Amino acid sequence: MQNPESKNCDLLQDKVKTLISSRVSLAPMAGITDFVLRSIVREYSPTCLLTTEMISSEALTQVKDTDIVARAENHSPISYQLSGHKPEMIADCAVYLQKYADMVDINMGCPVNKVVKGTDGAALMRNPDLAQNIVRTVKSKIQIPLSVKFRLGYTADEMNYVEYGQKMQEAGADFITIHARTRAQMYGGKADWKKIAELKRNVDIPVFANGDVVSIETAEQCLEESNADGVAVGRGVLGDPSLLYRIERYINKGEYLPSPSLEDKINGIKELLTRETEFRGELVGIKFTRKFYPYYVNGFSGASKYRGALVTLDNKKEIFSLLDRIILEHSNSNMIK
Ligand SMILES: Cc1cc2nc3c(=O)[nH]c(=O)nc-3n(C[C@H](O)[C@H](O)[C@H](O)COP(=O)(O)O)c2cc1C
Repeated sequence: MQNPESKNCDLLQDKVKTLISSRVSLAPMAGITDFVLRSIVREYSPTCLLTTEMISSEALTQVKDTDIVARAENHSPISYQLSGHKPEMIADCAVYLQKYADMVDINMGCPVNKVVKGTDGAALMRNPDLAQNIVRTVKSKIQIPLSVKFRLGYTADEMNYVEYGQKMQEAGADFITIHARTRAQMYGGKADWKKIAELKRNVDIPVFANGDVVSIETAEQCLEESNADGVAVGRGVLGDPSLLYRIERYINKGEYLPSPSLEDKINGIKELLTRETEFRGELVGIKFTRKFYPYYVNGFSGASKYRGALVTLDNKKEIFSLLDRIILEHSNSNMIK
């Protein structure tokens, strides 16, 4: 008879296979992949794996039902990402998140100073024993799959990603997303997809490659160089929430869908603004959406002047009429190729 523990392990592996079957996931981005953006990405792609923004386990322990955990019925498959360094605390948060999540992810890659100072995020790569302890503790308490997201290492001299990945697997992680940069690189330089192939050769659990996948072409090249099971897309979704769907269609069906036109992008920012104001209230939603203008209002002459004007407006009607003017004046002419 099969040992119940290994049967449970097989069941979780099957579950992971289903969750990642589209071979594309939305990488977690604090302040970006909120309820609204996740909903929009989902409307394009019914099957990609969504991931929330990083949720601090310290914060979630204090306040439970915040906007950050909100989900819609159709968000599944969705992974909720936790950050922190206290195994029991993270595990308790993971147990709580099971009512929303299909999978829980632990952040082991955030490079930001205030996060790594507290031994959270990428700092865990310098403390694999603690990272293993976190994975073991969480794993012992939840019934859904557990994943980890990490980088190549802390610095170029400390590229421990292969051994680290093995340790995470040994501790019970069911799935890995790896951002092919070191912590020291932050977001600079170029993601080194070829390195991921070495991790793939040395672990049995599925691995998604992450970093600089911004188009169908880069997704294809990344998969080829990394031999990963799929790609996680972060910044590429800014200005183009259809990107995950377009990558899925290409890698799974060979169908090449075009990138959005200027008119699509202007309609996209209007949609985002509408939904953010519904979600957050009028003024907060307008201010929150300002950071997205550079990604939607670009690629035509005079774009920066429009962006400069848009960030001064806090009236939705005025913002919409300026955006409509862009479509009228620029959608078929003056495009910068
Ligand atoms: C604004 C921003 C916020 C991010 N927040 C998170 C986060 O909360 N958790 C995480 O694991 N990674 C976070 N990341 C890293 C991304 O998930 C991803 O690893 C990185 O951007 C590289 O992928 P990309 O080139 O596709 O963007 C963030 C990145 C950006 C740009």
